[in-house]
Amino acid sequence: MIDPNPAEAAALIRAGKLVAFPTETVYGLGANALDPVAVAGIFALKQRPAFDPLIVHVASFQDIPPLTAEAPDGCVAVLAARFWPGPLTIVLRKSHLVPDIVTAGLPTVGIRIPSHPLALDLIRESGCPIAAPSANRFGWLSPTTAAHVRKQLPGVDMVLDGGPCPVGVESTVVAFTGEGSLRVLRPGGVTVEQLREALPRTEVLLDAGHSLPASPGLLESHYAPAKPLHILESMPDRLPEGSGLITHVPGRQRQDAARNFCTAPSGRLVETAAHLFTALHVMEDDPSVRRIFIEPVAEVGLGVAIMDRVTRAAFRWRS
Ligand code: TXA
Ligand code: MG
Repeated sequence: MIDPNPAEAAALIRAGKLVAFPTETVYGLGANALDPVAVAGIFALKQRPAFDPLIVHVASFQDIPPLTAEAPDGCVAVLAARFWPGPLTIVLRKSHLVPDIVTAGLPTVGIRIPSHPLALDLIRESGCPIAAPSANRFGWLSPTTAAHVRKQLPGVDMVLDGGPCPVGVESTVVAFTGEGSLRVLRPGGVTVEQLREALPRTEVLLDAGHSLPASPGLLESHYAPAKPLHILESMPDRLPEGSGLITHVPGRQRQDAARNFCTAPSGRLVETAAHLFTALHVMEDDPSVRRIFIEPVAEVGLGVAIMDRVTRAAFRWRS
């Protein structure tokens, strides 16, 4: 790991360049959120369709009012106090300051305060909000190390290397409905149970789809490795030759697998979340692995976000 230099990275952001940086969830591909030309560079480098809005990252709650057309109400303040800095994105009505390209023309903007110290340093030193999607090519595996970023986006101006991301799955994206309910648009690092506990009088709805307003069908495939991935409903007697096996409790590795990866040395869901994308990258990179098998986890707590990613990652390979 090269010594990260947030001051140099911030100078690049101010100059309209793209910087990949660590957050507690995954690496982001950042640009000055108030510079539409710089933001256009994100869409080009990621090959991301223009209909998919970006999250705007800020360093403190005071940075938010200029970006929104509504004064954050009591429920937003409760969520902010409980989960920020951290893996939660709140969708609010945007102000004119936020360029349309950032929000893909939507009247709303997703905002989050990340907790990774290097992300916060970068935002503060840049002196502007930073628009950042995950630093991968659109539709492919999310990056949780600097090496993952360089593999997919060799053209990025700089990668700020902060080591592996501790949470490992993206932020939970939420929006308040007109009726005062809270809709979870994308499950993530903050669980539905935690949201319900923070807002006991608010109805919390878990969207079956994804956060994208358009073309949900297209996004049934997302986070995909470049090799066939199958979810194992039960462990077969024999694995096909060239199998990579991803398990989530110790002691389930198999002799007949070309490569084994256990995401959770002590069997905890937080470990599986933290190592999920790394496991998939390892299998993608290993030439002895021709197809990947992954065990499912129970869909409770972080398991909802984990299975959301696994299901989408396997979608294009379903038979
Ligand atoms: O953890 C994360 O959220 C990471 C790190 C880098 O912060 N970022 C990330 O960005 O995952 P991205 O672009 O890969 O995913 C952002 C998701 C997309 O599904 C997008 O549709 C949704 O957030 N989103 C952003 N703004 C939105 C808006 N105004 N309304 C609805 N959904 C929105
Ligand atoms: Mg992404």
